Amino acid sequence: MASVTYEHVTKKFSADTTAVDDLSLSIKDTEFMVLVGPSGCGKSTALRMLAGLEDITAGQIKIDDQVVNEMPPRDRDVAMVFQSYALYPHMSVFDNMAFGLKMRGSSRTEMDSRVKEAARILRLDQLLARKPRQLSGGQRQRVALGRAIVRQPRAFLLDEPLSNLDAMLRVQTRIELQKMHQRLGTTFIYVTHDQVEAMTMGDRIAVMKDGVLQQVAPPREIYDQPVNMYVAGFIGSPRMNFLPVTVSDHQAKASGLELNLPKAPGVAHGILGIRPEHFLPNVSSDDAVIDLKVEVLEVLGADQYLYGKVGSDDLIARVDPQLKVSVDDRVRLGVNMRRLHLFDAETEKAVF
Ligand SMILES: Nc1ncnc2c1ncn2[C@@H]1O[C@H](COP(=O)(O)OP(=O)(O)OP(=O)(O)O)[C@@H](O)[C@H]1O
Ligand SMILES: [Mg+2]
Repeated sequence: MASVTYEHVTKKFSADTTAVDDLSLSIKDTEFMVLVGPSGCGKSTALRMLAGLEDITAGQIKIDDQVVNEMPPRDRDVAMVFQSYALYPHMSVFDNMAFGLKMRGSSRTEMDSRVKEAARILRLDQLLARKPRQLSGGQRQRVALGRAIVRQPRAFLLDEPLSNLDAMLRVQTRIELQKMHQRLGTTFIYVTHDQVEAMTMGDRIAVMKDGVLQQVAPPREIYDQPVNMYVAGFIGSPRMNFLPVTVSDHQAKASGLELNLPKAPGVAHGILGIRPEHFLPNVSSDDAVIDLKVEVLEVLGADQYLYGKVGSDDLIARVDPQLKVSVDDRVRLGVNMRRLHLFDAETEKAVF
């Protein structure tokens, strides 16, 4: 078990490629931390520096209280699981899982008990004699996880371990991983570009953009109080609606919209942020109202999404699937003022 600390960590691959820019992040012992962000934002690089697979340009990384910048990977006692799980094709599942222990000279009894324990956790007990080619993709990925578990590392570093799995297996394996985390009580650092994985798995989520950490907080807080438009737009699906408005005192205005804000924001140009799920089902006369011209409908059983325009801006609203709406209708949507966000149009930072 271990805590991990990044202190002002920077990684430059060249003068004009800064993959990770002044990252400071503390991961607590036994925590499940998710690093999330779009392709190229520096997630893998942050993880690879911790594993010792990439050297650090500036700053330091600590595991517990020990600076590991110069420590060889094998001495760090962390296990990394990659997206592509290179199993040895000619070896059985058992031997694949035991391989690392064998190299370290563990005894037969030790290997046996550790592999059997990991196989039990990952439900691979019945498959130990098979070769990788006789396994499904999900089973192979579990073997790769098993290889990491048998090492009993101080921390697990997982780099998009589910991205080669189909949708159903991803969900199953996601739940397996959460159970595994609870059972092992080990620190997990998990990299993904999938905001659903981040929201469902993380004790806390660290959102990155262009190598720069934007916000670290528990999933609920990231969703309820994003610090800027980037985080607000990245977490949540469909994405939060952004409507440019001019603000005077308590009033926000745009074509097709006029709202009394809960407080005077002190900016002249703002961007209203309204999540598609935060429109009110029944509009009463005192509600703030948005007038949506519907262009496309999607009925998904449990939900109905309306895509359309407010003035000249695009808007998506999630409404009751029972609501009868047709293309070209104008729909009055109540705005849940308690869930309304406002961003400064210039800095893109959250005002509230
Ligand atoms: N070995 C390398 N040499 C030069 N540039 C690199 C190298 N590895 C990564 N980069 C660059 O560093 C930046 C961050 O890459 P990184 O792999 O950390 O992103 P990522 O967030 O993991 O993306 P993805 O979701 O696509 O895996 C990118 O601009 C990438 O092109
Ligand atoms: Mg990556």
